[in-house]
Amino acid sequence: MEGKFVVFLTILLLGSICSNVLAKPEEDERALLDFLGNVSLSRPLNWNKDSSVCQSWTGVLCNKDQSRVIALRLPRAGISGPIPPSTLSRLSALQILGLRWNSMSGSLPSDFSKLKNLTGLHLQSNSFSGPLPSDWSVWPNLTVVNLSNNEFNGSIPSSISNSTYLTTLDLANNSLSGEIPDLYLPNLQMLDLSNNDLAGRVPRSLQRFPSQAFVGNNVSFEDDASPPALRTKHPGVGPPKNASKLSEPALIGIVIGGCLLGVVAIALFTIMFCSRGGIKRRGLLKSQKRQEVSQKKRGVAESEEKDNKIVFFEGCNYTFDLEDLLRASAEVLGKGTFGASYKAALEDATTMVVKRLKEVSAGRKEFEQQMEMVGRIRHENVAQLRAYYCSKDEKLLVYDFYGEGSVSSLLHGDRCERRGALDWETRLKIAIGTARGIAHIHTQNGGKLAHGNMKSSNIFLNPEGFGCVSDVALAPVMDQIPLPLLRISGYRAPEMTDSRKPSQASDVYGFGVLLLELLTGKSPMHATSSGDEVIHLVRWVNSVVREEWTAEVFDMELLRYPSIEEEMVEMLQIGMACVARMPEQRPKMPDVLRKVEEIRREHTATEPSPEIKSPGSTSAPSPTREGAETASPSARQS
Ligand SMILES: *[C@@H]1O[C@H](CO)[C@@H](O)[C@H](O)[C@H]1NC(C)=O
Ligand SMILES: *[C@@H]1O[C@H](CO)[C@@H](O)[C@H](O)[C@H]1NC(C)=O
Ligand SMILES: *[C@@H]1O[C@H](CO)[C@@H](O)[C@H](O)[C@H]1NC(C)=O
Ligand SMILES: *[C@@H]1O[C@H](CO)[C@@H](O)[C@H](O)[C@H]1NC(C)=O
Ligand SMILES: *[C@@H]1O[C@H](CO)[C@@H](O)[C@H](O)[C@H]1NC(C)=O
Ligand SMILES: *[C@@H]1O[C@H](CO)[C@@H](O)[C@H](O)[C@H]1NC(C)=O
Ligand SMILES: *[C@@H]1O[C@H](CO)[C@@H](O)[C@H](O)[C@H]1NC(C)=O
Ligand SMILES: *[C@@H]1O[C@H](CO)[C@@H](O)[C@H](O)[C@H]1NC(C)=O
Repeated sequence: MEGKFVVFLTILLLGSICSNVLAKPEEDERALLDFLGNVSLSRPLNWNKDSSVCQSWTGVLCNKDQSRVIALRLPRAGISGPIPPSTLSRLSALQILGLRWNSMSGSLPSDFSKLKNLTGLHLQSNSFSGPLPSDWSVWPNLTVVNLSNNEFNGSIPSSISNSTYLTTLDLANNSLSGEIPDLYLPNLQMLDLSNNDLAGRVPRSLQRFPSQAFVGNNVSFEDDASPPALRTKHPGVGPPKNASKLSEPALIGIVIGGCLLGVVAIALFTIMFCSRGGIKRRGLLKSQKRQEVSQKKRGVAESEEKDNKIVFFEGCNYTFDLEDLLRASAEVLGKGTFGASYKAALEDATTMVVKRLKEVSAGRKEFEQQMEMVGRIRHENVAQLRAYYCSKDEKLLVYDFYGEGSVSSLLHGDRCERRGALDWETRLKIAIGTARGIAHIHTQNGGKLAHGNMKSSNIFLNPEGFGCVSDVALAPVMDQIPLPLLRISGYRAPEMTDSRKPSQASDVYGFGVLLLELLTGKSPMHATSSGDEVIHLVRWVNSVVREEWTAEVFDMELLRYPSIEEEMVEMLQIGMACVARMPEQRPKMPDVLRKVEEIRREHTATEPSPEIKSPGSTSAPSPTREGAETASPSARQS
């Protein structure tokens, strides 16, 4: 009997394993092959029937259960000819279509209207022609559209307004004519209609965009009282400001590894020492050197790319490949425990953060598994891992870029004006968001996952101004953090000296340090004003508080705000409970979260409710002035 049961189980298990292995989007596979068979390619694509569509086809991303293709990204793939009708349109679950920088021509097939789930359409720099699609109500979720540098003609359809979530619309460098229609697109942040044959008046709904968005047309801002020049100052909606001058392949240093590591390390050191935490914009290597290197190394990168592709996660709106990364201009943002972070600006003005991990101890498989797990975490207070790249020599992680910088730089950065902007409301929102993020992380992986590297330089502000946790769960794949590094960080829970293994309790400790940091405005480790003594924030707060409950611990900046002292004391108590010496004495994250949210509950009762915004307004959901400033991530250039 028992034997039979075991056999039955085995069959069941095998069955489920096999069906997992065999599960593939067959219809979508056929559609892709029909597409491939009906276009010309200047170099072969590795799409063959024997390999797995979801796992090994270049540029293809499937959904979680691998039943559908949801993204197709083939930048610079050497494709020419029109998009054959009834091929890509059969990928009805497609969200991202990226075919930029190819030589595709002809008009857009009308059957694209079947791609109802489309969120990103990146067809720039091809030779597409003919009219723009006339009915945009078929794409209710479209957010990013770049059709620039093609030969589209005809007028701009007013039904674009039906894609109400549109944030980016780039139609520059085409042959569009006629008047610009009134577009009601409240979420639109980036518009470029330059270099077309448009005429007439810029409609009121679009006058909030700078005049550069309309240059190269015969249009006027006429009827408006204020001159157009004034409007160009509107923050956050300007055309790509930078990139062009710096778009040389500075990131090569990142991807080539090996013999270049030395050079990069020296460059890095120089940069780190010169900039001392400030954010500086520059490439990694001098430009001629860069050129040589890029020419020499491009070949290597390309061959590597065959087995080491960039893995994108669902929901990632970017389209880029390794070559784009090579060409991107990079700016060192900081050097963290696990590696340096760069702000990378792609040629198409996409900005993201690339983190280059050093000293990964995990093997490839283990690394990939961990990243897959981390990539599946979706929460508004956790910075989403967008993509990763893994080869023998390089491990790169791609995150969104947060224009405000980290909470650490906001609190302790050089610029006093920033510091001033961190009012109590903002700090509360940072604490609440961070607590939500960590509490969510602690529910992952069967409730066992720890963040492992809690500190204010890993916390950012999400678009609503709440804290958002980055660098999740990297510790398990990394070499142990050297003890001296741990010691100087000031976030290390006491028990970490022995085990050095991060736990949920050590996250709680780190969160407690963050609260103290927000309250005192002081770094977790800082020198005294005389400079001869290093102060450990936790010990210092403990000693001050032991003497007597005193306002002395609080940041002077905060004392400007009336009647928040009770709330500050409440937060201080939570912070001190979190930094209890023994891990088992610390509260669990869900309790911490509840308490932190309770501070706010009283607070919000006195707040005016946010007003409803007029259609033209680009300002943010947060009711406070400071909040409004922080909420538009692209608005400020660091
Ligand atoms: C071209 O596409 C059609 C479907 O539109 C398909 O039937 C045909 O097989 C494709 N041709 C090639 C060579 O794949
Ligand atoms: C479109 O997306 C929604 C939610 O993301 C999903 O439920 C639906 O099945 C998708 N449609 C198709 C055709 O895949
Ligand atoms: C649009 O997106 C929302 C949220 O992601 C989803 O629920 C909905 O199904 C999508 N609509 C379509 C038509 O795909
Ligand atoms: C668009 O261009 C095509 C030729 O490429 C031409 O036949 C057509 O008339 C043009 N349409 C408009 C509205 O100019
Ligand atoms: C689409 O947009 C047009 C023009 O703005 C409008 O008249 C129409 O009602 C919209 N259709 C839908 C389905 O929203
Ligand atoms: C349009 O073309 C000009 C000249 O070729 C180029 O400088 C500019 O970057 C293009 N604009 C966009 C948005 O691609
Ligand atoms: C620009 O438009 C105005 C009328 O709106 C017209 O008088 C003028 O000739 C146009 N200029 C060019 C160069 O097309
Ligand atoms: C659209 O693509 C062009 C060409 O790659 C690029 O110059 C431009 O910045 C892109 N627009 C946006 C808004 O990303």
